[in-house]
Amino acid sequence: MSHDMSDDKLPAEHAEGHGEAAVADNPFADPGLPAHEPRRTDVDERAEKRAERQVSLLFVVSMLATIGFIASYVAIDPDRIVYVFPLGHINALNFALGLTLGVALFCIGAGAVHWARTLMSDVELPSERHPIEADEETRREILEQWDTGAKESGFGRRKLIRNTMIGSMAMVPLAGVVLLRDLGPLPEKKLESTGWSEATAAAPIKLIDMNTNEPMMASDIQVGSLTFAKPGPSASRPNGLQESDEDFQQAIAKDALMLIRIQPEDIKDAKSRDLGFEGVLVFSKICTHVGCPISLYEQQTHHALCPCHQSTFDLSDGARVIFGPAGHPLPQLKITTDSLGYLVATGDFSHPVGPSYWERSE
Ligand code: FES
Repeated sequence: MSHDMSDDKLPAEHAEGHGEAAVADNPFADPGLPAHEPRRTDVDERAEKRAERQVSLLFVVSMLATIGFIASYVAIDPDRIVYVFPLGHINALNFALGLTLGVALFCIGAGAVHWARTLMSDVELPSERHPIEADEETRREILEQWDTGAKESGFGRRKLIRNTMIGSMAMVPLAGVVLLRDLGPLPEKKLESTGWSEATAAAPIKLIDMNTNEPMMASDIQVGSLTFAKPGPSASRPNGLQESDEDFQQAIAKDALMLIRIQPEDIKDAKSRDLGFEGVLVFSKICTHVGCPISLYEQQTHHALCPCHQSTFDLSDGARVIFGPAGHPLPQLKITTDSLGYLVATGDFSHPVGPSYWERSE
């Protein structure tokens, strides 16, 4: 469908440069469009060719960056760490994937914008509103134009181009499919227990303050305070959980604790009170929504708040969810004290830590 929008066919108030007199007479009149200023690429063939090359170059760089993305994914060791100024030491694979994908997308966007600004027509064309349904004449014209375009494009005749184009468009999403490999392997039973599962009544595990790296006593925990802790020495970790341990990140993601102290009479949930020691209650620090570490505690209300999506847990009431998307309470760890008065755990959490997942059994 084509509209002939040359000035001699436009209403007088829409024609370029024709509205100034009307505005002088009537300040509410439509001033029309400003006069069109030709761009350099409109009048200089060399500038036009140069812009064309620049746009193509951006698209070529995007293609190279996409190839770089796939090559990085295949070639770079996922555990390799590199130094990048000013970011410091970072994972080489993540950096390469982010950089190449960023360049690929940026160059497509920049190429499209540069193309539009320098080479596509920049003449503004007012389009008069018209009935949405096309008349018979317009429909016939459109069908004729469609048939002509289909014939001229050779889409039906050039089967090789047509089939390879459909194939290439169908295969592009496969680049994303390879990334699905990162979803595996399945966690199986690994999420159902934590490092605290080694603790027994005969071989309890001490709670170690994350800040001081020292064992904790009940008297160290003040009413209204929030303290974080990790597991002390156990059979499999004679030195306790250390940051230098190979599996530290995975272990701390499951074993991290949050300790608070509430006046025993203020604890609403009797079962939760029994799992604690003289008002000291110990919960998993890992949010049961999607696993962010909880770090905010409001001592007057005993509410713990997850900063990610604002799930709020009432720690005086068995860490019940009182707001937000979390699906279940924070797991609680049963504690007591050993003969020297140090806080110890004698078993694992009351139920699996972290977010809900399909294999979870409560
Ligand atoms: S991860 Fe805590 S609210 Fe979403």
